[in-house]
Amino acid sequence: MEYRHLGKTGIRVSELSFGSWVTFHNQADVKAAVDMMSAAYEAGVNFFDNAEVYAGGKSEEVMGEAFKQLVWRRGSYLVSTKFYWGLYDGVNERNTLNRKRLIEGINGSLKRLQLDYVDLIYCHRPDKTTPIEETVWAMHNIIEWGKAFYWGTSEWDAAEIVSAIEIAERHHLHKPVTEQPIYNLFERQRFSRAYERVYKEYGYGATTFSPLASGLLSGKYSQGIPENSRAALKGYDWLHDHVTDKEKLTKVQELEPIAKELDCTLSQLGLAWCLKNPFVSTVITGASRVEQVYENMKASEVAPKLTPEILERIDKIFGVKKEEDED
Ligand SMILES: NC(=O)c1ccc[n+]([C@@H]2O[C@H](COP(=O)([O-])OP(=O)(O)OC[C@H]3O[C@@H](n4cnc5c(N)ncnc54)[C@H](OP(=O)(O)O)[C@@H]3O)[C@@H](O)[C@H]2O)c1
Repeated sequence: MEYRHLGKTGIRVSELSFGSWVTFHNQADVKAAVDMMSAAYEAGVNFFDNAEVYAGGKSEEVMGEAFKQLVWRRGSYLVSTKFYWGLYDGVNERNTLNRKRLIEGINGSLKRLQLDYVDLIYCHRPDKTTPIEETVWAMHNIIEWGKAFYWGTSEWDAAEIVSAIEIAERHHLHKPVTEQPIYNLFERQRFSRAYERVYKEYGYGATTFSPLASGLLSGKYSQGIPENSRAALKGYDWLHDHVTDKEKLTKVQELEPIAKELDCTLSQLGLAWCLKNPFVSTVITGASRVEQVYENMKASEVAPKLTPEILERIDKIFGVKKEEDED
């Protein structure tokens, strides 16, 4: 496992990390979480991603209980959580990054995770109604109080990120240090030219999510929706169109000969492709069972096999022309 700096911070994250969206509580109980987290940790993963909204807070509870059982040295791993959607329907508690909600949010997350601090907190989405300055101050204060060490954004646009950085610089506050964008073979737009500027000029990190497009890139949906897959879960019908899209399935099928040539699985190829982007600090993987973790962690060994020629062949499958931006 390689470790990359989180943007221009002093902290280093394993290039593959592990997150709990959908899976913890819904598909994985504490025992399964312990198994998957240890498999990841033993493979070198040092970063575990969560959010208060995942499974309505239960995902943090499962991860917290898992940490308790795993008794790892706290300095050996990083944990993150995120705020925006909230857990309650109060007028100041949904879809917001107001100061009150963020501070109540971190206190609730720390309780559920049974931790004194998390390492990284994210604003899970931009809030168009709260002044960015208010959010920057709240994130700064949470860090100053030792409840988190770094903060970042998720799916913010480049102008919002630059605005937050500039506000923080103006007032000598803790700046956001990383974005958490979607990034996979089908979804590259967050790495368009506009974002490259944020990565290049501000040294912003990128902790990318959904590297397998919710499992589609593993090839598991080629014969329909398997019973024990994410798309078959109650409440995930919105994924059906995505995983049964003929054009997308054809592209996945076209990747198969390349995976065969490289002696890897489609999942490993999809993850390795994300790792090749030099702006990526870590690729946050997800898994519903431990076998997937074992398989996915080997993507680190596959990445060096992705030569410029192989990358060009992959781009061709996805209709991306050389030198052309992918947005
Ligand atoms: N910031 C945000 O807004 C945001 C949004 C989404 C995710 N995230 C973060 O990113 C993490 C990863 O996202 P994701 O879960 O969507 O990642 P993903 O890699 O796109 O999908 C993971 C899912 O694909 C299936 N899978 C994984 N490995 C497989 C393998 N080797 N073979 C077959 N199926 C496999 C599993 O689902 P099944 O087995 O159930 O089919 C697994 O839960 C999340 O846990 C979360 O921490 C953040």
